[in-house]
Amino acid sequence: MPILEGEKVTKYFGGLAAVSKVDFNVDQGEVVGLIGPNGAGKTTLFNLISGAFVPKPGVIRFKGENITGSKPHQICRLGLSRTFQEVKIFANMPVMQNVLLGSLFGTPTGMASANAAKEAAELLDFVGLSAVGKTPAGGLTLANQKRVEVARALATKAELLLLDELMAGLNPTETAEAMELVTRIRGRGVTIFMIEHVMKAIMGVCDRIMVLHHGEKIADGTPKEIATSKTVIEVYLGE
Ligand SMILES: Nc1ncnc2c1ncn2[C@@H]1O[C@H](COP(=O)(O)OP(=O)(O)OP(=O)(O)O)[C@@H](O)[C@H]1O
Ligand SMILES: [Mg+2]
Repeated sequence: MPILEGEKVTKYFGGLAAVSKVDFNVDQGEVVGLIGPNGAGKTTLFNLISGAFVPKPGVIRFKGENITGSKPHQICRLGLSRTFQEVKIFANMPVMQNVLLGSLFGTPTGMASANAAKEAAELLDFVGLSAVGKTPAGGLTLANQKRVEVARALATKAELLLLDELMAGLNPTETAEAMELVTRIRGRGVTIFMIEHVMKAIMGVCDRIMVLHHGEKIADGTPKEIATSKTVIEVYLGE
């Protein structure tokens, strides 16, 4: 069953079609990869899904509900959360407070804040940052800052998590750890839609991969299908 669906999703910046008539779906429980050369429209598509931009034209549905035109905070409350290509954490706040913010945002009013704190602590442990909970988030390595974002996103009670280049800028060890984290997130029952340039990672963890090129979807298939697709190889090797 699709948790996320898009129909003819389009976004123009002036005369540039950054995302053009893209049909897509992500099934409940799936890990779907989104790849494509620089400027292909991947982040713009995530911005459209998370409500930062409104598709024009196009329709986006989350859990069967039409969310086209909904605000980012409304979409997040429905259970769709994200991380950012350029990490957006509260650098001067302790790691724990960063995650707690997500927890409090995703907590129904009336629920004790103690519960939110407990949840944030559990998630901090889940991403392996318990030891640095009191450290200002800006003082962490990039890999760990990305983990703060993941924990904060999960804390909002995400059912679908959009990851925009979780592995960019990480060393091979950190990349392997990030892949392992993605697998564990899936183990919590969270559906994942992830943008990634690191092919080894995307091929290793995704059930299905979509390819964008110049704003258009040019391929959608299993990692094996994508790795052997003539069109995809041309797009990557041709540039
Ligand atoms: N806010 C904006 N205003 C104008 N143009 C934009 C804006 N955001 C993105 N673009 C343009 O839209 C196109 C798609 O950009 P986008 O960031 O979605 O690509 P991407 O696939 O995420 O690339 P990368 O792999 O480099 O992150 C690019 O040509 C980019 O310059
Ligand atoms: Mg991008």
